Amino acid sequence: MTKILVTGGAGFIGSCFVHQRVAAGDTLLVLDALTYAGHKENLAEVLSKIELVVGSITDGALVASLYEKFQPDLVINFAAESHVDNSIASPSAFIDTNIIGTYTMIEAARQWKKRPSHFRFVQVSTDEVYGELGTSGKFYEGYPYQPNSPYSASKAAGDLLARAWFHTYQFPIITTNCSNNYGPRQYPEKLIPLMITNALSGKPLPVYGDGKNIRDWIHVEDHCSGVFLAATNGTPGETYVFGGHSERKNLDVVQEICRILDRVKPRTDKHSYAPQITFVKDRPGHDQRYAIDDSKAKYKLGYTRKYQNFEEGLEATIKWYLANTAWAQAVTQKKAA
Ligand SMILES: NC(=O)c1ccc[n+]([C@@H]2O[C@H](COP(=O)([O-])OP(=O)(O)OC[C@H]3O[C@@H](n4cnc5c(N)ncnc54)[C@H](O)[C@@H]3O)[C@@H](O)[C@H]2O)c1
Repeated sequence: MTKILVTGGAGFIGSCFVHQRVAAGDTLLVLDALTYAGHKENLAEVLSKIELVVGSITDGALVASLYEKFQPDLVINFAAESHVDNSIASPSAFIDTNIIGTYTMIEAARQWKKRPSHFRFVQVSTDEVYGELGTSGKFYEGYPYQPNSPYSASKAAGDLLARAWFHTYQFPIITTNCSNNYGPRQYPEKLIPLMITNALSGKPLPVYGDGKNIRDWIHVEDHCSGVFLAATNGTPGETYVFGGHSERKNLDVVQEICRILDRVKPRTDKHSYAPQITFVKDRPGHDQRYAIDDSKAKYKLGYTRKYQNFEEGLEATIKWYLANTAWAQAVTQKKAA
């Protein structure tokens, strides 16, 4: 049994991690600012089994007090501003949380006098720090950092702090960089849940540019298992990348969502959802392609994926959103309020 401090545990990926580790019998403290992207609803089934502290990872005094009080064996830093479009419109929160917040978390842990020798800190990051690929090649752990958006630049800065804290202070930190996640409880601003919720409410399905940008999709449960493996089997100072081996063009993903919905939740007028697709002006600096070579995670950590087939995982995800329309209403109302 491990004591884990999870930041951003009320968000999409963090809450999946919390569910997994509660099921495994670990003791969890979640630190989350409950921004528009963080929701107690994401933890509803496990709320009685964890401690939730509502606060920011940028609050040094709070973070230091949590290390003292909770005495974690492990910290997983999921907390972040995570939406590229928001980072283009308004980068400041990304600098605060993704850079200052990461600094605050690692520096307070470094200064924590009673830090146990087995302590580990995992900095959860994204493949977007590597920039974009052409038609061939894949990102891997030694790939040069070339972030293109304010979001990826702020995540890259957090990763570089992690690297420096290991090299300068031997701070026991492990960094993970993962491709695009999909699955239950993703805030409906990201591609897949946005398309599902818009389709169901009869709204347009906005696809950037020509829809040919390629992303590699990984099920959120596989990402979270990988993060835990990195924490427990990984070596401090090392980086591990995770991918889903499912490269798809954005337009193909949206068309597949329409096909699945046509089958499992046909429109009342019996027409397909596909004509709801509209092409909108491309996102500035939109990266063309991401892909991951996760051989290191496979061989060094024993990483395997439960979800081998993206279309099957996508169908299960769509069915989750269909069964949880009250969830979507609750989380989107909070932003509107
Ligand atoms: N979503 C993806 O596809 C993806 C892929 C690779 C890596 N990541 C990384 O995984 C992590 C989690 O991503 P996500 O998609 O779950 O994001 P999310 O936006 O769904 O959740 C982020 C969570 O962090 C919390 N948070 C934000 N600012 C905070 C602060 N200052 N203090 C405390 N909590 C704060 C929010 O309330 C929310 O609960 C991020 O670090 C992200 O960069 C995401």
